[in-house]
Amino acid sequence: MLKVNPNFVKLPPSYLFVDIAKRVNEFVLKNPDRPIIRLGIGDVTLPLPKAVVDAMVKASQEMGHAETFRGYGMECGYEFLRQAIADNDFKKRGVEIGIDEIFVSDGAKSDTGNIGDIFCTDNIVAVCDPVYPVYVDTNVMAGRAGEYEEGKGWSRIVYMPCLKENNFLPELPKEPVDIIYLCFPNNPAGVGISKTELKKWVDYANENKSVILFDAAYEAFITEPDMPHSIYEIPGAKTCAIEFRSFSKTAGFTGTRCAFTVIPKELEFGGVSLNKMWSRRQSTKMNGVPYVIQRAAEAVYSEEGAKQIRENITYYLNNAKIIREGLAAAGFEVYGGVDSPYIWLKTPNGLTSWEFFDLLLEKTGVVGTPGSGFGLNGEGYFRLTSFNTKENTEKAVARIIESFQA
Ligand SMILES: Cc1ncc(COP(=O)(O)O)c(C=O)c1O
Repeated sequence: MLKVNPNFVKLPPSYLFVDIAKRVNEFVLKNPDRPIIRLGIGDVTLPLPKAVVDAMVKASQEMGHAETFRGYGMECGYEFLRQAIADNDFKKRGVEIGIDEIFVSDGAKSDTGNIGDIFCTDNIVAVCDPVYPVYVDTNVMAGRAGEYEEGKGWSRIVYMPCLKENNFLPELPKEPVDIIYLCFPNNPAGVGISKTELKKWVDYANENKSVILFDAAYEAFITEPDMPHSIYEIPGAKTCAIEFRSFSKTAGFTGTRCAFTVIPKELEFGGVSLNKMWSRRQSTKMNGVPYVIQRAAEAVYSEEGAKQIRENITYYLNNAKIIREGLAAAGFEVYGGVDSPYIWLKTPNGLTSWEFFDLLLEKTGVVGTPGSGFGLNGEGYFRLTSFNTKENTEKAVARIIESFQA
């Protein structure tokens, strides 16, 4: 009889967004005339910039003519896109990344999930707590996480608490770890990391021969000058780090799907090149991203595209400011939202994340995400996002202030 992968059976069902939807639906049924404002969404809402749409239309038309039709492309992406990435995302920041170190894909979720294919299952994994759940769940699937213990987490995963006492930045692990997931600007805590702090991790990884998996999906939201947009701005990172980037939040591609992963040629363990291994993995398991989409991603770097994308990010960052400043003035403890679309709110009066979820919904009709859904150290916190409209964001903040100050 067929045996299924037992690691998948160990995974607890992902209830977070199902539970949220259930509670919101119940509320709507009981209160049909009370409008809901969703500040829990982790998806962009503004349409694709015109430059991107124009590029997609042009590329689609090319596909309809024999002279310009394209079939399979290179698994790692067309040169025109990888060159645009190398020039704009790296060279302009003083970082030399070769186009053969860039692998275009359909998403940072797939890449951060799939990268484990090239690592042995007995490596020790370290994650921030709270954390983007994909890092943990994909290691469970791979058999790297051990057993789940209620109130403790996975037995073989090293959790690095990100608390307000350490400014939501992880501390270097006391025990040796092999694979370190870092995500900055952070989801869910909404904070960025300075070059000085990130340097500590690069030094640690080089000394301990570990790899850093650096998720920079929110890089475009950085506003502070000292914050690195790429881990390769830190000397020594090319021998210890893989970086994941995405057009999803940067350019509104959540439904369009395009991202890339950088694996420097210097990244070698035991004489084996991770760049070559990933290239082998990708060329075996995927056939690249559609030509039309890669042309759309290329347009992100055009003069017009870059301007339009910046306008959208500024719009979201302004929403983040409205939430952050509005709630802080009303006496809430708020973090993040300066270099990120996420605001991390301390729940008032010692409420648990879910208690606050229910109270907020009941009093204001505003929906957010309970921090406990991101890990044990997310308990007592709440994530709000800046991806709704400015009007709704202002309304939500006004309602919260009115309800909680009275
Ligand atoms: C930290 C982080 N990484 C990656 C992703 C997914 O990116 P993509 O849309 O490119 O798969 C998300 C999406 O919310 C995210 O929060």
